[in-house]
Parts: sequence; C-alpha cells; structure tokens
Amino acid sequence: MKIFLDSADIKEIREFADSGLVDGITTNPSLAAKTGRDYVEALEEIAKLVPGSVSAEVLATDFDGILSQGRRLAKIASNITVKVPLTWDGLKACRALAGEGTTVNVTLCFSPVQAMMAAKAGATYISPFIGRVDDVGEDGMGLIRDIRTIYDNYGFTTQILAASVRHIMHVREAALAGADIATIPPSVFKSLLNHPLTDKGLAAFLADAQKAGVKIRGT
Ligand code: G3P
Repeated sequence: MKIFLDSADIKEIREFADSGLVDGITTNPSLAAKTGRDYVEALEEIAKLVPGSVSAEVLATDFDGILSQGRRLAKIASNITVKVPLTWDGLKACRALAGEGTTVNVTLCFSPVQAMMAAKAGATYISPFIGRVDDVGEDGMGLIRDIRTIYDNYGFTTQILAASVRHIMHVREAALAGADIATIPPSVFKSLLNHPLTDKGLAAFLADAQKAGVKIRGT
C-alpha cells in the first residue's frame, strides 16, 4: 500500500519527504487555509519536493469553474493530480480532465455507489473519508471493503485512497481491506513506527553492548 501525507505545510512535508517513505501528497482547501500561504505557490514547491502524485483541490463547484481551475492546477507540474468534489458537476469535470490526460482524485466519497460512479467517470483515485464516516456512527472501513469488492467485481482501475485517517488502526485496517493508498496526517505518520517493545528492546541491546564494551571497529 502506498502512503501519502495529508498536508499542505511545506515544513512538515520536507521533514517526512526526507525519509523517502512518502509516496505522494494530498491537500485540500482546509489544509491550504491553515498554512496562510498562496495555494498555487505552495503547490509548486510541494510538487518539486515529492516526485509522486500531489493532489490539488479546485474551489469551484460548477462544471466550467471546476474545469478551468483544474486545468490551471494541472499546469503547475506534471505530478499534480486535480482533486474534484463528488458531485454531478465534479464527475462531469472529472471525465473531461481525465480525457485530457490529467490524473483526477474524486474527493468527499461517503458511499460505495458514489465510488462506483467516480470510477465510471474515469477517476484515477477515489477518496473515501473513513474517519468522518466513523464520526457519524457508521462503518468507515466497511466503506473501503465495499468499494474494493465493487471495483474488483467490474475491473475498475480507480485506486482507493483511504482519507480522513485518524490513527494507526485505520492504516492497518485500510491495508487489510485492500486500499491502494492511505493518506495520513503528519501526527499519525510520525506514530507509524512506534512500538514500546521496539524502544525497550533497543535500549536493552545498547545497554548490553555498552556494559561489555562491544564496538564496531572502523566506524
Ligand atoms: O484527506 C481528507 C482529510 O484531510 C480529511 O480529514 O480528519 O478532516 O476528516 P479529516
């Protein structure tokens, strides 16, 4: 499974991109607003920093507006993926942009049928918001599983990009459910490698080595 970072903050992105473990970036208008920066300028920098897909979301909601903003965003760099809302106009624009060779991420997906329609519109990625589904007492991971089944039943190649990820269990479950990608906020990304037994084991190894004077000669 690929791991994307869900952030528009260049400092955060730089910190994690250096690890070589970031396969792509997703941004949205709320994340862009948090940075207080010009969105296009920030996207230009992000697209240079991370070679994988960088999702850039349109702000328009009508077909012509989505198309024109999508075309503008796509021009920023070859790795920009245009993010459009899962609405009639959004899917119409998805079809048009995909026809022009632009990769499209259809966002704000909350039902399996919505995901099927996005795939029919030629979406490269579908973004089901698992955390927000859980928030209203429904089953976010069930949504991922249902989309996986529908896409596999009919051979849709749209990639499932699990979004609104809130904790490590979401990452684990999304991987088990067959999501192609999980986009993860920096706080969760940081905790992906954490395990108390790793810390405990490492401390014990180092203490034993120090006690016995074990060294790696030549370093
Ligand atoms: O990728 C979508 C994500 O940013 C939304 O997350 O936590 O606001 O539901 P959240």
